[in-house]
Amino acid sequence: MQPEFWLESWQEGGTKTSFHRPDVHPFVRAYTPDYFLRGQRVLVPLCGKDNALTWFRNRASHVIGIELASKAIAQFFREHNLAYRKTADGRYEAEGITIFNRNIFEITPAEIGRVDFVYDRAALVALPEDLSQLYRQKIDNFIPVGAKCLLITLEFQPYLGATPPFSITPEEVQSYYGDRYIIDHIEKQEQPEHRMVQKFNLDFLKEHGFFLTKTAEKKTKKIFDFWKIKTPQPERSQSIEIL
Ligand SMILES: C[S@@+](CC[C@H](N)C(=O)[O-])C[C@H]1O[C@@H](n2cnc3c(N)ncnc32)[C@H](O)[C@@H]1O
Repeated sequence: MQPEFWLESWQEGGTKTSFHRPDVHPFVRAYTPDYFLRGQRVLVPLCGKDNALTWFRNRASHVIGIELASKAIAQFFREHNLAYRKTADGRYEAEGITIFNRNIFEITPAEIGRVDFVYDRAALVALPEDLSQLYRQKIDNFIPVGAKCLLITLEFQPYLGATPPFSITPEEVQSYYGDRYIIDHIEKQEQPEHRMVQKFNLDFLKEHGFFLTKTAEKKTKKIFDFWKIKTPQPERSQSIEIL
């Protein structure tokens, strides 16, 4: 995806930015309580004007967003009534939050500083395979061993073509992260009411939540399906299975 695609989307707004949620994503509310975020530096790559930025700002020690479109960043600060200062190198700064108005692929770990936690919603799924691979490497370079990531993906059929969002299955998450991250599959929700189902006449759409924890050594264990504990299974109720 060329940067122009996103800049034009933000310029047009409306259905072009319908990925923006008016609320804080329920997985964020459920899985990042106050005690979890205390003292943490939270990175939100490809942040748009996500309301989760404010959730993290109110709980963590600092939030770092990265976003190409200055329009999205300006809207974020305006909608949350936050005074900010703009630096010459494209940072928007307010108390507790810094948003880089930059292409993520041009930012260095030194600029970002320490990162303890990453929130990825509609970022990985927004990138075609070539950029997705670069993006995963980039995030991996930003974070130390022990850092965690809350990753939210969409899985749907049929294929929608070469524009975002892109469907990602749990098996693909396993293949992307399985060798260096512990993967806890915490949510798997069928979403028949999701706006995309009607708009694109989808056969199904599922939203997945994963906690990824970066480890020092190569992993052999696969995804741990925590969502099965919460969701009664028709045949093997309450069972946990390592795929
Ligand atoms: C699908 S939107 C998701 C926004 C936000 N995460 C949310 O959930 O509302 C993807 C965002 O990434 C931004 N973006 C795309 N490519 C980028 C890049 N290379 N560097 C920085 N931002 C980028 C776009 O402008 C867009 O706002």
